[in-house]
This record gives sequence, C-alpha cells and structure tokens, in this order.
Amino acid sequence: MRLVASGLAHRFQGTGNLFENLSFTLESGEMVAITGPSGCGKSTLLSLLAGWESPTEGEITREGEGKISWVFQNPLGSPKRSVIDHVSLPILAGGASRREAEKLSYQLLERFDLSQQATQPYATLSGGQATRLMLARAFAAQPALLLVDEPTAQLDTHTAASVNAVLGELASTNTIVVIATHDPDTASSAQRVINLKEFAK
Ligand SMILES: Nc1ncnc2c1ncn2[C@@H]1O[C@H](COP(=O)(O)OP(=O)(O)OP(=O)(O)O)[C@@H](O)[C@H]1O
Ligand SMILES: [Mg+2]
Repeated sequence: MRLVASGLAHRFQGTGNLFENLSFTLESGEMVAITGPSGCGKSTLLSLLAGWESPTEGEITREGEGKISWVFQNPLGSPKRSVIDHVSLPILAGGASRREAEKLSYQLLERFDLSQQATQPYATLSGGQATRLMLARAFAAQPALLLVDEPTAQLDTHTAASVNAVLGELASTNTIVVIATHDPDTASSAQRVINLKEFAK
C-alpha cells in the first residue's frame, strides 16, 4: 500500500485547526511515529489515515488494497482465551494450516517476548504482556496498514521499556506501521518521525 496525504488540515466543531499544511507519503515497509503534545491531533490523524474521518482540508489517497488494523491505547483481548489463541486465530483466518499456524504463532510469541505465557488466559497477563500480545496479534493479521495508538501511555517506565523493545518487530515489508506516541523511546523505534507540533497553526 502507498498512502499519500496532501495539504491536510483538520478541525472539529469547537477546535481551531489542530494541524495544517500536512503532507507526506508512506510506503509499505515503513514505520513512522506521530509525535506531539497531548491534544495536538495524533489520534485524529490515525482516524484520518484509517478513513474513519475525512480531513477538513486536503486529501488522503490510498494506492493498493489491504487490511487496516488498529492497536488501541487500552489492550482488549478475550479474557478466557489463551495467549497463543490470540495470535493463531488471525493466522488461521489468513488461510494457514493448523500446523503452520501453530509454528508461526510460537515464533511470533518468541519475538514479542511472550513464550512463557503461551497457554495463559489473556485475563492473567500483566499490562505490558497484554500490550505486547495486542501488537503480536495485529502483526499476525498481516495488515497493509497498522495503526498503533499510544502503546506505552498506560505503562510504568520499566513495563513501557518491555513494549518499546519489541516495537521493531512490527516492521514488515508489506505493512505501513504508524505509531502515535508522546514517549520519545517509543518514537525512536520508527525510522521516521512526523511531529505534529511543527504543523500546529
Ligand atoms: N469527535 C470530536 N469532536 C470534537 N473534538 C474532538 C473530537 N475528537 C477529538 N477532538 C479534540 O481534538 C483534539 C485532538 O484530539 P486527539 O485525540 O487527536 O489528540 P492526541 O494528540 O491524540 O492527544 P493524546 O496525546 O492525549 O492522546 C482534542 O482537543 C480533542 O478534544
Ligand atoms: Mg491520542
């Protein structure tokens, strides 16, 4: 997928322009961080990229097909389902055999530092483990566009570090990864940073 944003500006009723004159192109394989202070429009920009919201000015064009996945600020899994099920279901849905899915799932859990928790129910995970699982599950679905909103906002410094350590695993040649964050360590996982503060009016 290729995403081209040109001349974007966005405001809501009751807000001035959150940002304006924002243009960029994102290509598959890229990982980009959207930074800036609280309220500057990071989550809003993710919604625009997903097509949930239309920009007040400018346009976004999506070239190529593919799934869009979100990882929200609050991790949301199925409480009684095991960790391994969370990652193997999207792999099975993608058409893999049981055997392939199991092998790929274990590899993924390893990469996202969850091997020890494979058979635990989701409800028993710590905050950092739950966040890492949501990232692994989103990756398992192999989306063309992966939008991640504040993966470390709810976590203490130590736990946030465990999440930042695996963010690089999200990079994939067929995916554009966009991470909204105000944590500089989270942003440093990305090759590229778009600081919305520079586009504030
Ligand atoms: N649907 C809406 N209607 C009106 N105002 C909105 C709406 N959605 C967001 N806003 C406002 O737009 C501004 C930007 O919100 P947004 O959630 O994009 O900020 P953010 O950069 O993600 O902040 P944070 O770092 O706190 O997550 C805020 O002032 C917010 O109150
Ligand atoms: Mg936000």
